[in-house]
Amino acid sequence: MEKLALQGGNKAVQSSQNKFEEQTRWPQMGKDELNSINTLFEDANITTHPVIRDLENAYSERIGSKYALAHHSGTSALMAAFWALDLEPGDQILVPTGTFWASAIPMMWHGLIPVFCEIEESAFGLDLAAVQKKWNPNVKAIVIVPLWGIPGNYGAILEFAKENKLLVIEDASHAHGAMYKNQPVGSFGDISVFSLQGFKLAPAGEGGILLTDKIEYFHKAVLFGDIYRIMELDTPDRRFAATSFGIKTRIAPVSAAIGLNSLKKLDKTNAVREANCERLSEALSTYGFACYGDSTDWHRTYFEFVVRLQSNSVNILSADEWVTALTSEGCDVSRPRYPLLHEQPFFTEGAFKKVLRIEESKCPKYEPGGFEKTRNLNDQLIKFPCFTTNDNDVLEEYIEAIHKVGTSQKEVKAFFTKEKMTY
Ligand SMILES: Cc1ncc(COP(=O)(O)O)c(C=O)c1O
Repeated sequence: MEKLALQGGNKAVQSSQNKFEEQTRWPQMGKDELNSINTLFEDANITTHPVIRDLENAYSERIGSKYALAHHSGTSALMAAFWALDLEPGDQILVPTGTFWASAIPMMWHGLIPVFCEIEESAFGLDLAAVQKKWNPNVKAIVIVPLWGIPGNYGAILEFAKENKLLVIEDASHAHGAMYKNQPVGSFGDISVFSLQGFKLAPAGEGGILLTDKIEYFHKAVLFGDIYRIMELDTPDRRFAATSFGIKTRIAPVSAAIGLNSLKKLDKTNAVREANCERLSEALSTYGFACYGDSTDWHRTYFEFVVRLQSNSVNILSADEWVTALTSEGCDVSRPRYPLLHEQPFFTEGAFKKVLRIEESKCPKYEPGGFEKTRNLNDQLIKFPCFTTNDNDVLEEYIEAIHKVGTSQKEVKAFFTKEKMTY
């Protein structure tokens, strides 16, 4: 066995940083995107160009939703979604503590209270037991997030939502192209949202899409932020056309044009990511990592490739030790980046009250600590890069690095012990 890089041996990854960046390049902007932007200039329309409708129609068609409204970000689409549901200030919404903040905080601008719940290890979805425990009669809705692209536990949570008559907001920002029981992710919410931000699977630069089958929700989202569409309404809501509700969320056509191109290529780009992540998964699963490949119920996408170190007999190293050893072999690996939301200063210091603006007596208290399940889960996670091209010699070097560390775990452990490196 080759000497570990930790002990002064050669790194398994010998390729240059440039080559790594080429093979993990994202987003992949090219001639198609340039041509689509050129059209906007030729048409001399960079604000209301019909490409926005084209983007919306393409999402409606692909997801099978009756209505789509493009926004300038996923966050603004979520703001519109929480507003459109017509809930009352003080109503509560169940939401995972392990997600990006935009799944939760936008609701607070409408006086809605996030009730944080644990996530679970089988698919990073909401934990059913936690959700059952947190339910109370003031809970009116639930946010589901297919984290990293995995819609694994949709079934149980959607069943729970149905039983308890909860509205469902699906924050599908990580999961363009994923399916649950042969139905597209993005079609499970009363309102569903995709972020089209530049790192996402169908990037637009900045953008978001709101999808729904219910015309009332669509109209409310229009009232929230799309002044041109208010003028088009053939309902009494049209009377608000002169003022709107004071917020503007429409996407820019440049973003819409890029987003439309990305959506057209989505299946191809997803397939490359998937094949590459599966190659890494093969190597990683040898050493006891859960890699979250597809199951019979769901097809995932690889927005980010996050794996979990399961504690079992083949595993000697901790997640941190794996990260240090792989980093020394030249791999770009890290711990995933979502801290538990409920214990961030915005919540624990009460800063959220400036946004929530409901009676003090109704304001929730968010305490740090607790949520051991999600915390333990986070401690076991490692993020690998997604390789995005078919030229994957750097990927092969990563696989070599995984085997090098995996087959030398005892030596790596001994090295850390000798060096008194503790994690
Ligand atoms: C789960 C999730 N929801 C919502 C958003 C917000 O999207 P945007 O950045 O387009 O506002 C993000 C962005 O990273 C996200 O990861």
